[in-house]
Amino acid sequence: MTNGRIGTAALGDGGPQVGVQGLGCMGMSFAYGPVDVDASRATLERALELGVTLYDTADAYGAGENERFLAPFFKAHRDEVAVATKFALSIPPDDPTRRIIRNDEPYIREAVEASLKRLDVDVIDLYYMHRRDVDVPIEETVGVMADLVRQGKVKQLGLSEVTADELRAAHAVHPIAAVQSEWSLFSRDIEAKVVPAARELGVTLVPYSPLGRGFLTGAFVNAEKELTDDDFRRRQPRFTGDNAAANAALLEPVRAVADAHGASLGQIALAWVQQRAQVHGLPVVPIPGTRRPDRVEENTAATRITLTEEQLALLEPIAAQVAGTRYPDMSFTSAGRE
Ligand SMILES: NC(=O)c1ccc[n+]([C@@H]2O[C@H](COP(=O)([O-])OP(=O)(O)OC[C@H]3O[C@@H](n4cnc5c(N)ncnc54)[C@H](OP(=O)(O)O)[C@@H]3O)[C@@H](O)[C@H]2O)c1
Repeated sequence: MTNGRIGTAALGDGGPQVGVQGLGCMGMSFAYGPVDVDASRATLERALELGVTLYDTADAYGAGENERFLAPFFKAHRDEVAVATKFALSIPPDDPTRRIIRNDEPYIREAVEASLKRLDVDVIDLYYMHRRDVDVPIEETVGVMADLVRQGKVKQLGLSEVTADELRAAHAVHPIAAVQSEWSLFSRDIEAKVVPAARELGVTLVPYSPLGRGFLTGAFVNAEKELTDDDFRRRQPRFTGDNAAANAALLEPVRAVADAHGASLGQIALAWVQQRAQVHGLPVVPIPGTRRPDRVEENTAATRITLTEEQLALLEPIAAQVAGTRYPDMSFTSAGRE
């Protein structure tokens, strides 16, 4: 690591190297309040300078808007970046609380063409199934995804929020390079089954929301009182009502560790994910999301922080005490089906 540049990790067994921290781009167009196009563009460029190469989007983020927004950046830097996008999920514009999930062949074939067009690329580096439709056998879905690899439309395959059994069944059809699931100081359910399965199969873990959607940085406490009307976090049980205040109190040990390192709370949360993955013995590429260049500097600098055994022990009890689930409907997550 030189000039603030981050190290690298393999994406899948024998797969390409990417920066050991990626960038979540969802908030640049969708879900987390007002967008700032100029700041987001500057964030993308700064991230690349710092060695971030895996950029995460999905067709669902702003109904294609996020993919379109990223296209010029990808075009300008096509050989330096890995483009990751997803299919399976759509949010009806007239009801943002609803989720429609599809994993069937006609849907996938249409979705990949639409993403390639919006992203303005010839090939998607990493194509994820965003959410599982339990009515379609996963072998069937991954069979279609494997065909996209054969056709040269997609390079590597990923799955998001799958169970360990689903991952095994999928991997038997075609190698899965990455599993993207929520993993943070507040959300550790995947450590029970999914992480050990990924390790066993040589799958890289891509932790999403490693900053607990911003809550772990201390940037807000009560979503209903502090965030704008359209902010998705206002509907998440952990960030509202009595849960919000109870969960904010859980950040005290994080603050103590941050003070000891002269670091921010968010940096400790990010360092924790990297080190927790080392304990499990598998590569991780967390994808914290930000729209601000100064924050991408702060977040990537966290890859240089090493927590002591004593500090890890201090942070260990937090997740078990979190009040409220991470989604209103947990059936959309691996933990909800295990
Ligand atoms: N597969 C899935 O189902 C799924 C689900 C959710 C997310 N994702 C992906 O994962 C990515 C990351 O997750 P996420 O965005 O939900 O959550 P996150 O990375 O845990 O947190 C993002 C939030 O933290 C704030 N933030 C970032 N760095 C900060 C810092 N240094 N100090 C203070 N605040 C900071 C951001 O605000 P600013 O933007 O204002 O900096 C944003 O509100 C997304 O962008 C998306 O690509 C995937």
